[in-house]
Amino acid sequence: MPATCVIGLQWGDEAKGKIVDLLSADFEMVVRYQGGANAGHTVVIDGKKYAVSLVPSGIFHPGVQCIITGGAVIHPPRLLDEIKRLRSQGIEVGSNLLISDRAHVIFPWHTETERVHDALRCPEKSIGTTMRGIGPCYQDKAGRQQAIRIGDLYRSNLKERIAEIATEKNMMLAALSNGSPFTPLDADAIYQEFSGYAKELEPYIGDSTKILLDAIDEDRRILFEGAQGALLDIDHGTFPFVTSSNSSGAGISSGSGVPGKRLDKIIGVLKAYNTRVGGGPFPTELDNELGDQIRTQGNEFGTVTGRPRRCGWFDAVAARYSARVSGADCLAISLLDVLSGLPEVSICTAYDIRGKKVTDFPSHVDDLADAKPILETVPGWDVDLTKMRSAEELPASAMDYLKRLEDCIGRPIEIVSVGPDREQTMFLTSSYA
Ligand code: GDP
Ligand code: IMO
Ligand code: MG
Repeated sequence: MPATCVIGLQWGDEAKGKIVDLLSADFEMVVRYQGGANAGHTVVIDGKKYAVSLVPSGIFHPGVQCIITGGAVIHPPRLLDEIKRLRSQGIEVGSNLLISDRAHVIFPWHTETERVHDALRCPEKSIGTTMRGIGPCYQDKAGRQQAIRIGDLYRSNLKERIAEIATEKNMMLAALSNGSPFTPLDADAIYQEFSGYAKELEPYIGDSTKILLDAIDEDRRILFEGAQGALLDIDHGTFPFVTSSNSSGAGISSGSGVPGKRLDKIIGVLKAYNTRVGGGPFPTELDNELGDQIRTQGNEFGTVTGRPRRCGWFDAVAARYSARVSGADCLAISLLDVLSGLPEVSICTAYDIRGKKVTDFPSHVDDLADAKPILETVPGWDVDLTKMRSAEELPASAMDYLKRLEDCIGRPIEIVSVGPDREQTMFLTSSYA
């Protein structure tokens, strides 16, 4: 399909990077259209591990044009570091990377604002963000007056704009620090520093919207790479425990400029169980030894912050909702190998919310916090799946588990991942009608 999208359908870290890398071989362009360096996408090629945050996971395929569009937020020093790191690992990054002049820039006042706000919250109420300035930057984008886009870095009034914004931010930060020691932002130093980054980034900058619209008209093969997951979507996720962009399928069009009706196929990626990093309700969470076992077997520690990920059973109520809200045509199930060795595996098929059985995903986070999972338990499997390459090799109970997921979500599974490496993947021709 010419325009294909890969979207996470849980709370992030569903192995989107692996799936995008795998599929990139068949595409001319790979596009990141929202989020920023809060994302951490891992790709393993011949046993060698790579991590990308902003650079699309198509970068490992020479000849693929990678694009970061205007819907993304960019912290220039982090992006430059990422480019350098990839190069030092032997990955070519040059004209194969294009950055939109419409993308918003993360400045020191964004990270500082996030830090100060977070310190004011008691830990239980904290969203537990990645502290990368993502929220404050999107806030300024929506507020408009204090926003600077990549294209603005090359305008003659940049110094003046930075001075103006830094003055206002200093007033706000001083008030929030409430008398405690506070180092004001130095507008001149920020201007010098960011002018330097602008020079380094200049060769990559372009109008990604025009390039993508032309490419769509020419029926070129484009792969869209979502960051985070549908349950972290600012509008459709578990608000306020979400990120600040549209990380469900809803964001593809707004973030890239490509109209929704020109998108041909949406692949929803789901782990064979659930994880979450940071705060917010998680009905199927296993805050016990079983959860610890899944964390250890799945190596569930954040790519960006190193935080242990919370682990739990597969939540089919949430998955069905995210597949619908994201317009998923089919599914990729990852980390199936991690469940090997468990005598039984459970799927949450409904919630009990204050005594009432609920099968629709609640719109209010307090209802989700009160949701007790109603679990369906099926037999597990005790064989290593990591060397299997076709669905025929899978044990019957693993296949039954996958079929049950298809039934619960109402979408066919086309890809199953049984290990981090490109090779550890199987493509299914689903019988699901
Ligand atoms: P993303 O943010 O969605 O790209 O996912 P992350 O890269 O943050 O997290 C997924 C983790 O699982 C990474 O460490 C991957 O290398 C790893 N991984 C991907 N697919 C599989 C799989 O099928 N099995 C196992 N065991 N690990 C996998
Ligand atoms: P990838 O693309 C998992 C979570 C944070 C926090 C919330 C808000 O690797 O799947 P933010 O810094 O965005 O304001 O944090 O969202 N979060 C992610 N969790 N994977 C991600 O990205 C995430 N990006 C943000 O932990 O709970
Ligand atoms: Mg990740």
